[in-house]
Amino acid sequence: MKSLRLALLGCGTVGSEVVRLLHEQASDLTARIGAPVELAGIAVRRSGRDRGDLPVDPALFTTDALGLVKRDDVDVVVEVVGGIEPARTWLVEALKRGKSVVTANKALLAEDGGTLHDAATEGGADLYYEASVAGAIPLLRPLRESLHGDRITRVTGIVNGTTNFILSAMDATGAGFTEALEEATALGYAEADPTADVEGFDAAAKAAILASLAFHSRVSAADVYREGITEVTAADVASAKEMGCTIKLLCIASQIAGSVSVRVHPAMIPRSHPLASVGDAFNAVFVEAEAAGQLMFYGRGAGGAPTASAVLGDIVAVGRNRLAGVRAASESAYADLPIRPMGEA
Ligand code: NDP
Ligand code: HSE
Repeated sequence: MKSLRLALLGCGTVGSEVVRLLHEQASDLTARIGAPVELAGIAVRRSGRDRGDLPVDPALFTTDALGLVKRDDVDVVVEVVGGIEPARTWLVEALKRGKSVVTANKALLAEDGGTLHDAATEGGADLYYEASVAGAIPLLRPLRESLHGDRITRVTGIVNGTTNFILSAMDATGAGFTEALEEATALGYAEADPTADVEGFDAAAKAAILASLAFHSRVSAADVYREGITEVTAADVASAKEMGCTIKLLCIASQIAGSVSVRVHPAMIPRSHPLASVGDAFNAVFVEAEAAGQLMFYGRGAGGAPTASAVLGDIVAVGRNRLAGVRAASESAYADLPIRPMGEA
């Protein structure tokens, strides 16, 4: 049986858990996909870095990501590096060569998802990115597939684990912002540069991806009104508490009368609201659709293992598609709905 050969780009918080899961679940994955999965190579920034007890042949590490992507024996490229470049170059190259791509890179998808979708169409390749929003929570697949026959009107939620961890700690223990951020970083929730988390860029990227899928439109990070949590003080949290509320960083995307509005900002919500009890680095997303009504998705939105779970799910999906000789329906035929500026409800 021919194996499914993976190029893994990145072996940090998420990538190392992907390696672990591929190793631990090798026989189950073979059964689910219908072919064994093999690592063809792992691209990293520092090939000599100590990777602890990672169950992998050290000879697989390389610093030549582009060379790895171009290899003829690679079927699927799994990108867990992050950032816009060089990730975009690698993924466009892979997709145009007909290689399936699995990525957790919300920054790239939100900045220039159109280029990736167009490259996927050109190469007849699959592009899956479940891990890019809300970590382990199966959310994009339901938007992409299960709810495709319905009309989604609004998506509201907590989509950044780091800020939720910080705000929850400030609310529960009176912890200071800096102390709570350090703990979130140590737990692997925060991005390498936590500015993206605390200034709301990470949530804005996720909001753009959610709005694009929910409203079949191309929404980029620049279309999202954004405020982070750096201005939220311990005094704000205490005042909210006195009023029976808590502060959460919310993402709110809606479609009204053919235009789309997407925003991310801190909001005071009553303690009786279901989102108020979402603590730690958990995420929760409400989806409102005309026929389905209200749906709620809840779970671990950050961290190596939860995110790797979503990556593995995508690997199984693209592996099965390759074996069956099919690809997922293209998302490049998006309508361009106008974006409603903030202030126009
Ligand atoms: P890390 O910073 O922990 O790991 C990044 C990895 O990429 C490292 O292995 C690093 O190599 C490698 N790398 C960096 N630059 C290059 C380069 N130029 N060429 C080759 N390899 C490179 O990031 P995370 O694992 O936390 O995140 C990865 C992706 O997953 C990002 O897109 C992130 O947004 C996304 N994500 C992360 C989540 C999380 O909870 N952490 C959750 C959901 C998505 P080296 O090891 O040598 O430094
Ligand atoms: N830094 C991100 C967060 C990781 O805290 O939500 C998950 O995307």
